[in-house]
Amino acid sequence: MPTIVEYNQIFSLSNSFFNYVFKVNSAGLLEHLYYGIPIENGHEASTHYRSIQRALTSDFEGVEHLSLNDLPQEFPCHGRSDYRSPAFHGRNKDGNSIFTFSYQSFEIKSGKPNLESMPCARGGDAQTLIIYLEDKLMQIELRLYYTIYEDHAVLIRSCSLHNLSENEIAISAIASTTLNFAPGNFELMHLHGTWAREFNEERFPIPTGKFTIESTRGASSANHYPFMAIMEEGTNEDYGQVYSTSLIYSGNFAMHVQKNEFDSTRLIAGINSFNFNWILKPNQSFEAPEAVHVFSDRGLNKMSQHWHRFIREKISPPNFYNIPRPSYLNTWEACYFNVSSSKVLGLAQTAASLGLEMIVLDDGWFNGRNDDASSLGDWVADAQKFPEGIAWLAAKVKQLGLKFGIWFEPEMISPESDLYKAHPEWAIQVPGRKASLGRNQLTLDLSQEVVVNYIFESLDRILSCGDIDYVKWDMNRAMTEIGSTALPKDQQGEVAHRYILGLYKLLDRITQKYPNILFENCASGGNRCDLGMLSYMPQSWTSDMCDPIGRLDIIHGASYILPNEVLTAYVGPSPNHQNGRVSSLKTRFLAGMLCAGRGFSLNEEDLLKYKDEIHTYSQLIKETEKDLLGGKFYRLIKSRNEVCFQYISSNASKIFVVYFQILSAPNLPFKKVRLKGLNPDHSYELKDNKQTYRGDVLMGSGIALPYATNYGEGKELVMEIADFVSHLFVFHRSD
Ligand code: DGJ
Repeated sequence: MPTIVEYNQIFSLSNSFFNYVFKVNSAGLLEHLYYGIPIENGHEASTHYRSIQRALTSDFEGVEHLSLNDLPQEFPCHGRSDYRSPAFHGRNKDGNSIFTFSYQSFEIKSGKPNLESMPCARGGDAQTLIIYLEDKLMQIELRLYYTIYEDHAVLIRSCSLHNLSENEIAISAIASTTLNFAPGNFELMHLHGTWAREFNEERFPIPTGKFTIESTRGASSANHYPFMAIMEEGTNEDYGQVYSTSLIYSGNFAMHVQKNEFDSTRLIAGINSFNFNWILKPNQSFEAPEAVHVFSDRGLNKMSQHWHRFIREKISPPNFYNIPRPSYLNTWEACYFNVSSSKVLGLAQTAASLGLEMIVLDDGWFNGRNDDASSLGDWVADAQKFPEGIAWLAAKVKQLGLKFGIWFEPEMISPESDLYKAHPEWAIQVPGRKASLGRNQLTLDLSQEVVVNYIFESLDRILSCGDIDYVKWDMNRAMTEIGSTALPKDQQGEVAHRYILGLYKLLDRITQKYPNILFENCASGGNRCDLGMLSYMPQSWTSDMCDPIGRLDIIHGASYILPNEVLTAYVGPSPNHQNGRVSSLKTRFLAGMLCAGRGFSLNEEDLLKYKDEIHTYSQLIKETEKDLLGGKFYRLIKSRNEVCFQYISSNASKIFVVYFQILSAPNLPFKKVRLKGLNPDHSYELKDNKQTYRGDVLMGSGIALPYATNYGEGKELVMEIADFVSHLFVFHRSD
């Protein structure tokens, strides 16, 4: 089991991956001591802070030389000699913002308590330390939760606030976690983006001052994925200590890193305090979402593998754990809104003949939905396009031996809809202002229970037919004019968070009622791929960017945190509809080869034109569907012109290496790539040439990468001389 020990009010949490240590200091505050590689006696770890007089500092409550401005703290507050951004901020009964939480007691629990209102990591081989603190003057209790696992390099943190007084407290900031770093040269990496360009890596030395990633859009968004890695200078894929953080939360979040005048660095992460204000009434509690910290002592690749295993085992819904994902044909880029029973059945027949396993009816199937200007909220089949209804169609598709999937955008309402006519008050809005539209639509106010019930019942009516195997849950706009018709004036600052709580209730109900339906998370692609959504949905439509070259960057960035089981990709048309690029079907397929959810979105004409290739790839999906669950992912090459990923199946019997050369150039160097993570003593047979290589050869000397040339003579592995070429190496362990 992981160990949590208390020794003279020093708390040490340890497992074979890391130690995390803090103490109660002489002022009753929680002072951080250590986070890093395992050390035998955690309680011997010492803080970098020294109680020595410095000019222009203030001393907390007059305790000699105790300036909180430089003190590493577990949950810092504002205004009492710490001038940095706090983990908590609010207004108390006296109208001031001064709070101090002093240590009271602790409790160690085996396992891990669940949050009441939000998804959270599962427990199991875990222990949880709960620290009880109190602001005696204001009669508020703060509980800090720390969970450590036996077999994961993961620390989970969260907190809850309990109002024991007879007065209201206005909470304007409540973070989930704080990490402290002693002065040193740290770099920061985060993932930013936008529609069809999600998960771009950015990395830089942490500057003095404050750097924030955040969302104010109501959803976690692709603009900043809720993820930050703080690492020692010079860290690369295989070397360096990395401290990374994400949140199990799908709404407005913020993570900031602040480095002060003494080079102390502090990370604070949680619900975004901007535009947030929560009135905590007497006897009420507030829960902060969970923050997940992953520590790696061996660079970014190890960090990613820790995240991948943790998300599989503790976040993703367990009912789809290790279950292969069906290959599919999606109607979106094949038909857009122009769908109908006959078209879908025609495509389904072709899909079945090509060896695919599921057809997904995307947008356009419901009441009057012929473009994106109407109908969201009216979840009944369009009478013209689907006169026999969805249940009939699903049953027909099943008769062809295929699974059936369907698209919804449950959280939205079109002003042009029956629902809006009946319930304009159900949209997110503020009085007296004309609403801004996103994709011609408004957001439903999920902070209202009646709205959550309506959506549940609408979906339930369709899903209860029993023939639906998959649901693509889309969400295509950011919130504006955030307000609710159902809350009083002083609670309007709660709407964005209450929306997320309503969404979680809805997801809870629907996924519990339909545990066998495979839910795919989508938000205009990867605009809400966070760990909150992934707690309900085993996979996520990673991006609307289906051009393979655009997609490679996205897979590269996403792979820092998300396991391949979560990622889905399909072969879309060429020229690509997002960036106009022309590429081969092979490269389009191989770009998504290592994602567990794979499919096609091609029209009838293309399906027939490429039928042999599609058939080959649908067979390859079948052959490899089990291999792509639970294995290890490596980023081998990422340069301006080349990308190479490697994947080792969970039983280590198969190795897949996908290689891409982006632009063609004549007379390029002959190159090799060294594989990673193999057993040096095992032999691996390469399917291309049936040659066997020892693991140490593949990892030490490497294999020759295919060469793009028109003069291949049959002895060497060549690719055609063209832009956007690719190759798949498959190795089978042969002993
Ligand atoms: C955005 C999604 O990302 C697409 O795949 C597609 O489902 C459209 N929405 C449908 O409107």
